[in-house]
Amino acid sequence: MPEDPTAVEPEPAWSGVRRGPLQAGEWVRLVDQKGRRHNFALEPGKRFFSNKGHLEHDDLIGRDEGFSVTSSVGGEYVVFRPLLSEFVVSMPRGAAVVYPKDSAQVVAMADVFPGAHVVEAGVGSGALTCSLLRAVGPTGRVVSYERREDFAEVARRNVTQFFGGDHPAWDLRVGDLAEGLRESGTRADRLVLDMLAPWECVDEVAEALLPGGIVCAYVATTTQLSRTTETLRAHGGFTEPRAWESLVRDWHVEGLAVRPGHSMTGHTAFLLTARRMAHGERAPLKKRRPAPGAYGVDYTGPRPVGMPPQAAEEAYDDGRGR
Ligand SMILES: C[S@@+](CC[C@H](N)C(=O)[O-])C[C@H]1O[C@@H](n2cnc3c(N)ncnc32)[C@H](O)[C@@H]1O
Repeated sequence: MPEDPTAVEPEPAWSGVRRGPLQAGEWVRLVDQKGRRHNFALEPGKRFFSNKGHLEHDDLIGRDEGFSVTSSVGGEYVVFRPLLSEFVVSMPRGAAVVYPKDSAQVVAMADVFPGAHVVEAGVGSGALTCSLLRAVGPTGRVVSYERREDFAEVARRNVTQFFGGDHPAWDLRVGDLAEGLRESGTRADRLVLDMLAPWECVDEVAEALLPGGIVCAYVATTTQLSRTTETLRAHGGFTEPRAWESLVRDWHVEGLAVRPGHSMTGHTAFLLTARRMAHGERAPLKKRRPAPGAYGVDYTGPRPVGMPPQAAEEAYDDGRGR
């Protein structure tokens, strides 16, 4: 008989996933019949209270997750351990977190692989850090810079709680990213930026990234997106940046009523990636002319290499191609 890999509690392999019966100290997620969610850590002798009465933690400890329980006044709850995507939106926050739909895009489009050496800033509450650590695994490395000590502490608690201990690939540093990169001389496969002004760090990012490496920025506003893109272009050592956003819409599927959900998480932030050329190599200049007015009189940001400060035709262009 082949051995059942799920029969015994395995080494965690730093996935943040636990198997086997629920134990004291672990977090559980209860969802009621209206979809309301409650997350808490199991403590022997403690009670969970809601508007549906109470439940004894002791009645949950020792059971295999994926069961339903009834509270003292008849409320029904389904009990599971929280998934990573559920944990990060319910954990304590210092700064705003990267939502799971965007973390998934970062891992996929920045091609974060097992064993990768990743540098990220800022850490904020540690949500994206959990996805990066999971993607690189115990043989990789995630060096995370956060300039606010209080946020770094929140992140340390969240990440440690999710993985159930100190993740062997994680190196959390309190300080400014650009300074840290300059002082440490770190080299990285991937550089992930979720910070206010990523364009201020482009020289240090370029120095730290290995040839073929990827910079991935997550920015909330169009002005941040523009500044970061143009600074990468003007640097010349990166491929043409690609910018996008992801919109995820749930669907309601019930009998003949199959339609998009009424609400969705609309704008969260924009994503931007570019690849590092080999050191000393420059990306070829774009052959396509810029859109009319793109770099006209009103444009004050960094200019792509070879772009004259003001083409004559742009001087009177109103940005609508006239
Ligand atoms: C939106 S939060 C990051 C959220 C985080 N990615 C998460 O998923 O929980 C942005 C963080 O970047 C930090 N930050 C901004 N500029 C920084 C810099 N130059 N170096 C290091 N951290 C920086 C801020 O203190 C803040 O905590």
